[in-house]
Amino acid sequence: MKPENVVLSENGSSVIIIDQTKLPNKTEYLTLKTPEDFYDAIRELKVRGAPAIGICAGMALFVIASGFSGHSEEKFLSELHNVSAFLNSSRPTAVNLKHALDRVENSAHALRGKGVEAMLDAMHKECIAIQDEDVAMCKAISEYGLTLVKDGDGILTHCNAGPLATSSYGTGLGTLLLGKERGYTFHAYTDETRPLLQGARLTAYELNKAGIDVTLICDNMASIVMKQGKINACFVGCDRVAANGDTANKIGTSGVAVLAKHYGIPFYVFCPSSTIDFRCRTGEDIEIEERDPEEISTKFFKEPMAPQGIKCYNPAFDVTDSSLISAIITEKGICRAPYEQSLRICMEG
Ligand code: MRU
Repeated sequence: MKPENVVLSENGSSVIIIDQTKLPNKTEYLTLKTPEDFYDAIRELKVRGAPAIGICAGMALFVIASGFSGHSEEKFLSELHNVSAFLNSSRPTAVNLKHALDRVENSAHALRGKGVEAMLDAMHKECIAIQDEDVAMCKAISEYGLTLVKDGDGILTHCNAGPLATSSYGTGLGTLLLGKERGYTFHAYTDETRPLLQGARLTAYELNKAGIDVTLICDNMASIVMKQGKINACFVGCDRVAANGDTANKIGTSGVAVLAKHYGIPFYVFCPSSTIDFRCRTGEDIEIEERDPEEISTKFFKEPMAPQGIKCYNPAFDVTDSSLISAIITEKGICRAPYEQSLRICMEG
C-alpha cells in the first residue's frame, strides 16, 4: 500500500496532502510549498495524526530548503534551523513532529563540508526514509495487535489512528485493517470524538471503506456499550508517551480508559517507538495543546450551539495514567507495566 495522504512531488518542489478537514464528503488534494502553507496545514488539521504530521514536516523541510540551494553551508544550516523551529511551533503535543524535523535537519548537519547539494540529497533520502519506516512500523504494530484479539471481537476506538493519520494501516486501526485482510471479522464501535469529530469523519470513513463492520457512537455512549458487553478491547493511538507510560492522546481518551478499567476491559495504546519521549518523566511534563473555543461552540454547526461569547475550555489532548493502560504496542513489541522498564527495553531492542 503506497501512502496517499502525504506525498512528496516527483520533482521535490511540493508536498501533496489529502485535506482531512474535507473528509468524508470530499477528497480534495492540497499542494504545499511555503513555510506558511505547511504551518497552516498542520495547525488547521488538514494533515493530522502524530506520525503523518512528522512525515509531512520532514518533507516540508526538504522542499523549503531546496529554495536555499545558492546559500553557503552555514547560511543554509541556519535558515534550515529557523524553518524547523517555525514548523515545530505549529502543534505542541505530538513528539513525532520534533522527532522528524530533527532527523531531517541532522541529516544535513552530518554532511557539513560536503556542500549544500549533498546536504539536500541527504535530506531527501531522510524524509522518504521516515515515511517508508512508518509503513513498516504500522505493519509490525498491527501484527502485534492481532495477537491481542480474537475473531469476532468488539473494539472501541477513539479519535483516528488509521492510514490517514500515519502512512498505511495506521497504529490504533492497523489491527482491524490487517485483520480484515486475514479474514477476521471485527465489530468496531467508533467514538465520534468531540469537538472535531475525527472518529465520525475519519475513522468511520476508513473502516467503512475497508469493509469493516463499524458503528458510530457519541463519546458519552462508551459506557453503555461497554456495560452491554459489546466491547472486548479499546484501541487508541497516541501523541506522546512519557517514560513512566503515561500517554497523551486526543481529548476524551483518558475517560475511555477509566471506563474500561471499571468494566474490566483491556485498554491498548498503539504507537511507533518514536512516540516514546524519555525527556518527559511523567504525563505532567507533556504540553497539552489548547485550541480555539470556536471549535466547541460554533464549528460544524449551522448556527452557534452556545451563547455568543460563552467561556469555553478546549484542550485538544489529555493524558491517560499508565495504571489504566493494559499494554503499549510498538513496532518493537508489546510493553506492559512496569513501563519504566518495559519501554526502555523496547527502545534498546
Ligand atoms: O488532533 P489530532 O487529530 O492530530 O489528534 C490525533 C490523535 O490524537 C491520534 O490518536 C494520534 O495522533 C495518533 S495517530 C496514529
